[in-house]
Amino acid sequence: MPGTILVGAQWGDEGKGKATDLLADKMDVVVRYQGGNNAGHTVMVGGRTFKLHLVPSGVLYPHTVPVIGNGVVIDPGVLLAEMAALDAQGISTAKLLVSANAHLIMPWHKERDRLTERYLGSNRIGTTGRGIGPAYGDKVARLGVRVQDLLDPKILSQKVEVVLKERNAVLAKVYNRLPIDPEAVVEEYATYAEALRSRIVDASLYLWKALREGRHLLFEGAQGAMLDVDHGTYPFVTSSSPVAGGALSGTGVGPREIDRVIGIAKAYTTRVGAGPFPTELTEGPGEVLRREGVEFGTTTERPRRCGWLDTVVLRYAARVNGLTELFVSKLDVLSAFERIPVAVAFKIDGEVTEEWPMTQTEVYHAEPVYEQFDGWREDISGVTSYSDLPRAARTYVEAVEKLSGVPVTAVFVGPGREQTLTREPGQ
Ligand code: GDP
Ligand code: IMO
Ligand code: MG
Repeated sequence: MPGTILVGAQWGDEGKGKATDLLADKMDVVVRYQGGNNAGHTVMVGGRTFKLHLVPSGVLYPHTVPVIGNGVVIDPGVLLAEMAALDAQGISTAKLLVSANAHLIMPWHKERDRLTERYLGSNRIGTTGRGIGPAYGDKVARLGVRVQDLLDPKILSQKVEVVLKERNAVLAKVYNRLPIDPEAVVEEYATYAEALRSRIVDASLYLWKALREGRHLLFEGAQGAMLDVDHGTYPFVTSSSPVAGGALSGTGVGPREIDRVIGIAKAYTTRVGAGPFPTELTEGPGEVLRREGVEFGTTTERPRRCGWLDTVVLRYAARVNGLTELFVSKLDVLSAFERIPVAVAFKIDGEVTEEWPMTQTEVYHAEPVYEQFDGWREDISGVTSYSDLPRAARTYVEAVEKLSGVPVTAVFVGPGREQTLTREPGQ
């Protein structure tokens, strides 16, 4: 069973790009299964920085085949620009394949995303404004345009016309906006059709054959468990399923092909956009985390909200994803602190619980119960073996393992490929 799923165990930006890049060394195929260009994965290799939004992070190794699965929503203009930028940096995207069943982000999705946020006012989600929610909404409402529609110009123009008839009425009558010209959209998307035609495949069939040939597949998640549309902090979530289950429906692969589900979590917590965040620190140490961890969004450049590690979240992520192991990133950032609190439980209306609450009301009322850990106050970014970490840093990692209930098999001490410490069981 050579399938490995990599998922974010918090609210995104855990370092999935770096983790995927590391794992891709031993993989034949790296497939993205959900999300779109709301994702921003930064990977540093040999002093060079790559920012990926749609192209799977496995692209940085010449031997892997990057695949965009059916669960992804694709803004084709953004995808082509990203491919061109990678090619210009000497990274070949020649092998990239795109599922015929993936959905396309259309101009009306981007407009709708911005308008809905404006209308929500102070209740806004804080989306990335890339049209993600409306594109998934249309997919479920059966009004979506799929990648395969690019191959049939007649169907493409029919779909655009039918959908725009209704969308333009809403744009004019509800939002007082100018209509979108269907012909201009069809013309624009016809150019994308030409550029992408040779890469469009039945990705489920491709992956099935690869598995039969004994090839190793990595399923690269975007976002994180707490942004999952079902299991996250709804409605302050994204509109897809970043959890491990999403890797199956998002690629057309069955559960028996998977043998590893790796979660990745920062040694602290961040979130971008609105929504509950029990361990958030609005000042003081929160500022230090943002500065030391350079916590600014890869996609929108917004400052990320920062807080201490929340192991209630990690236990929950372990459960909803069925994690078999955990990577802990950005341990180096905690070198700035004398004492490091970790949330081990929540106090909700006087009651202490170790489980993520059932209702959002309880999440809003949750006060973290902290356990204090000693800091190590030394630069660990040059450490090359887990056993060379200061005792206090190892105690911290062991506590994360115990509190999350998942073996920690790798620790990151910097953004570079080489700043990775693998950890053997019991080490
Ligand atoms: P992703 O969305 O999960 O791929 O994560 P992002 O790339 O958005 O954010 C993670 C950021 O942390 C990136 O800028 C990485 O280069 C950086 N990073 C990853 N691991 C480490 C680490 O161990 N230490 C430090 N200091 N930075 C890291
Ligand atoms: P990666 O893959 C962090 C957040 C947005 C917003 C909410 C909904 O880099 O971890 P959307 O545009 O998806 O409708 O926005 O989800 N969000 C992310 N936060 N990392 C991401 O991706 C995110 N993708 C979406 O900030 O709160
Ligand atoms: Mg990111």
